[in-house]
Amino acid sequence: MNDTPHQPVLYKEIIHALQPRRGGRYVDGTVGAGGHARGILEACAPDGQLLGLDVDPQALALARETLAPYEQRIHLAQASYTTLSAQLKNLQWDLVDGIVLDLGASSMQFDTPERGFSFQNDAPLDMRFGPHALQTAADIVNTFDERELADLIYEYGEDRDSRKIARAIVNKRPLHTTRELVAVIEAVSPRKGDRVHPATKTFQALRIAVNDELASIKTVLPQAVASLNVGGRLAVISFHSLEDRIVKDFFRDQSKDLVNPPYEQLYEVERQAIIKEVHRKPITPSEEETKNNPRARSAKLRIAEKI
Ligand SMILES: C[S@@+](CC[C@H](N)C(=O)[O-])C[C@H]1O[C@@H](n2cnc3c(N)ncnc32)[C@H](O)[C@@H]1O
Repeated sequence: MNDTPHQPVLYKEIIHALQPRRGGRYVDGTVGAGGHARGILEACAPDGQLLGLDVDPQALALARETLAPYEQRIHLAQASYTTLSAQLKNLQWDLVDGIVLDLGASSMQFDTPERGFSFQNDAPLDMRFGPHALQTAADIVNTFDERELADLIYEYGEDRDSRKIARAIVNKRPLHTTRELVAVIEAVSPRKGDRVHPATKTFQALRIAVNDELASIKTVLPQAVASLNVGGRLAVISFHSLEDRIVKDFFRDQSKDLVNPPYEQLYEVERQAIIKEVHRKPITPSEEETKNNPRARSAKLRIAEKI
């Protein structure tokens, strides 16, 4: 979650994880401003290639600028990483040597007030990563019934005040701007000491719902693993526990043989493990990185290798 003006989150760690080599083929499924992509392209020079995907046309414009020096070796597409297999087919790439997914919103998106991601600015309740999203945050807060809203804020925001907040939203709507939504939340869920702002979790929940983020991660992981050469690596950076749990569970599941039935001594292996986890625990940013970029604080990197 971060690009300009800082280095992207866990930059060195991503390059180290993917070990890009000359002539290799790589995918950045969340190319953003192109920070990780640039590092990969440097490391696989002179002839390694990279496919960069993003749903956000503004992000792609930035990536195109950042990556201009490598123009001959990049392919950029405005597309969701959930279409990874189809994108590779378009390029006639069979398998690739490394894939990175740096999930969530970018600094550019957070810091562009009119995108509506930040509760610190007043803006329309939008929160779409790209035009492909079927609904805005305003559509959700103004059309979901109270119970659906409460469930969404509880499930995706893990906010225990979800019922109170949902009731207040329904009483005050229609709501059109981030400031209106923040005021509604603050009225029922006041700031407690210097803990996180009470709107943080509702904003996270709406963003996840608007962009169907959790379902997208579940869709891309099997495609990513299926697209890797043996020895190729998938590196995923997540920023909250809901994302990380999906990645962790998938990696654990796919790195075990599936035996049937599992309790007999003479068992059949129904499905062989297809990846191994490179580290058992996720990699987190150094103290120095979080000092320079507080947004990196919650980042977790998991790496899997195709076997
Ligand atoms: C944290 S930023 C990536 C920053 C990037 N690693 C860099 O070095 O600049 C995440 C990016 O993923 C994009 N994104 C979110 N969901 C996506 C999806 N389903 N498919 C493709 N890109 C997506 C966002 O638009 C955003 O630009």
